[in-house]
Amino acid sequence: MRTQYEQLEYEYYETFWQSRNNGFSSNENHYSSAIAFPGVVDFIAWLSDQDRKPRTVLDIGIGNGRNAVVFAQAGYTVTGIDIAPSAIEIAQKNAAENNVTYTARVQSFFSYTPKQAFDVVVDCGLLHHARKQEWRHYQEQLDRVCAPCGYVFLKVFSSASPYLFERTYGARNWTLYEQHYNHFFTDNELELILGDRYTIHEQYYLPKSDSGIVYTVIFAQKKS
Ligand SMILES: C[S@@+](CC[C@H](N)C(=O)[O-])C[C@H]1O[C@@H](n2cnc3c(N)ncnc32)[C@H](O)[C@@H]1O
Repeated sequence: MRTQYEQLEYEYYETFWQSRNNGFSSNENHYSSAIAFPGVVDFIAWLSDQDRKPRTVLDIGIGNGRNAVVFAQAGYTVTGIDIAPSAIEIAQKNAAENNVTYTARVQSFFSYTPKQAFDVVVDCGLLHHARKQEWRHYQEQLDRVCAPCGYVFLKVFSSASPYLFERTYGARNWTLYEQHYNHFFTDNELELILGDRYTIHEQYYLPKSDSGIVYTVIFAQKKS
């Protein structure tokens, strides 16, 4: 049984990924790209410099698998989940085309109860679509899936973006675009979501190349 929010996400992304047919954009900053998000590439380099060497990665909202591919290429054991079945289908094809192996399955992050927590959790574009009433649940789930002292990669729309899509919805920094919620996060909100339980090691803005959208990228670590 999906929540109202999950149903909205499901319908939007199912249509979106169905329409892709593997025809990815060449824009490396876009999630329909065949190229990993640049912040994820930085994060993998950063992880390799850490004393504590992680092995397992959970990619929440794996999409077409563009980031899971580079983690698998870097030697990690990767699991990806997504609510959209067609994203999982594309992610599986993408693994085969790139000669890598990872597990990708249809599963909402909000009801995911893995047997074991992961050394690394990657959220490249899921949290910024969650509604505010899901944030607490998101924190609980992140705590559940991230191992003690595990690492977290987070990419969200930033309130520093000069462009917040066409239509604004309700409170500041929320937009409803193509029947799809987007939130542009302030630094304070991110601190509130992660601050207590995670140490933020790196935080920077990354402008999307062909638009006025700016992302916030975070490399964090669970405190215990
Ligand atoms: C903006 S896309 C990002 C895809 C991928 N992470 C990337 O960077 O290319 C967000 C993805 O999250 C998935 N998603 C949205 N809500 C989800 C949920 N509750 N659980 C799992 N996946 C979800 C969508 O289906 C979509 O594939």
